Amino acid sequence: MTSEAQVAAVVGTTSIADLYQQVRARTLEICAPLEIEDYVVQTAEFMSPPRWHIGHTSWFFETVLQKYQPGYQPYSEEFLFYFNSYYEGFGPRIERPKRGTRSRPTVRETLRYRQHIDEQMSRFIESVFDRDDAETILSIVRLGLEHEMQHQELLVYDIKHLLCDQFDAPIAPAPVQRANVTGMAEVEGGLFELGYGITGNGRSSSPTVREGSIGSEFAFDNEKPQHTVFLQDFLIDRALVSNSEYLEFMRAGGYQDFRWWHSAGWEKVSQEQWQAPLYWEQNDGEWMIRDFAGLHRVADKLNEPVSHVSFLEASAYAKWAGKRLPTEAEWEKAACISRELNSKQAFPWGDGVPDQSKANLFENQVWGVAQIGSFPAGQSAYGCQQMIGDVWEWTTSDYAPYPGFKSEFDEYNDKWFVGQKVLRGGSFATPRSHIRVTYRNFFYPQERWVIAGFRCAKDA
Ligand SMILES: [Fe+2]
Repeated sequence: MTSEAQVAAVVGTTSIADLYQQVRARTLEICAPLEIEDYVVQTAEFMSPPRWHIGHTSWFFETVLQKYQPGYQPYSEEFLFYFNSYYEGFGPRIERPKRGTRSRPTVRETLRYRQHIDEQMSRFIESVFDRDDAETILSIVRLGLEHEMQHQELLVYDIKHLLCDQFDAPIAPAPVQRANVTGMAEVEGGLFELGYGITGNGRSSSPTVREGSIGSEFAFDNEKPQHTVFLQDFLIDRALVSNSEYLEFMRAGGYQDFRWWHSAGWEKVSQEQWQAPLYWEQNDGEWMIRDFAGLHRVADKLNEPVSHVSFLEASAYAKWAGKRLPTEAEWEKAACISRELNSKQAFPWGDGVPDQSKANLFENQVWGVAQIGSFPAGQSAYGCQQMIGDVWEWTTSDYAPYPGFKSEFDEYNDKWFVGQKVLRGGSFATPRSHIRVTYRNFFYPQERWVIAGFRCAKDA
């Protein structure tokens, strides 16, 4: 028999039941300002209606109940079809672009479904500790909660696409700039231990478990195993690329000059007539940015990180600037080396979990990027700032398995190892307990609705 304490130690949190409650509640908090009509609309093929996220995150837990709860009867065949995302192993499903083509299940029915799953899951979690397979089940429940946190972030992207400044987000005041961040950090090459694992000090390179914190020793299979790579000496920007710098690229004719673009990028520029990042618009010849807080002159946001650019645009900018994007190994080294200890740490600032003073993550409730230089307390040993939070950072690395990769869950990460690029560091929409320096996010190179920006690197 496995005791709750033993399992909690394995799962890495004092109470999986508490974590379950907290994460599930936050999804509904994010949606709270929505009107009923907002829940079912799909504004683009790549986004999903909020009602779908609410049901899908519950569907994920229903698959756990189906597999591990003896005698569990599915809630509804129709829901299994509508709320499955892409899992072949769980049967047929609605095509993604059609998620917004039906009004049923209704929002009320979806919420009732969610409540049903929560009741079942609460009882199920309580009963699990006596089972021989408790460890397996609890790690899948944990995966379900990390999955839900990923959908919380997607909800923010999708609500922005759907409503943008019409959404009544509970916006907290943005932090103020506290430091000037300039230049590039020189990082020495050599052997580097890439990925999640136990460090030389016996610490795991993940958030420290703290009382009351929902962070803990969790990492996705795609961050493992930690393995040795060789890096050349390199330089990396201490700051994210700003709107001001990006505007210079635009004014220099960046979007009109094929020389800066990959072929796929130039094709997109021509086909989609890209002239600026997503959510930029022109007002009497002046560039404006629309975000959750309203419509603003870019001139008033020059010192903010550029966001909603694709990998293709980030690469074009870097080439124009005489630089390049970092590889994910370069990014990780610049983010997490402790020079004193000569080892990896969980975050740029050390092993302590993120807080208000170190990074702009979802709990800050800023619902937007913070000015460059707002988080000197969160800088890395190399003086790189805002590596955690604000915007996901495009890297030049292809999203592929690390050597020695072992899939821990079918169809979760392993089926996406083709054609996508790795992003690092989290955004203002990422929950605090969901991010770490080794986290590998991935999107297609042309995607712009993701809250993504970049910093550049250079050979030494
Ligand atoms: Fe999902």
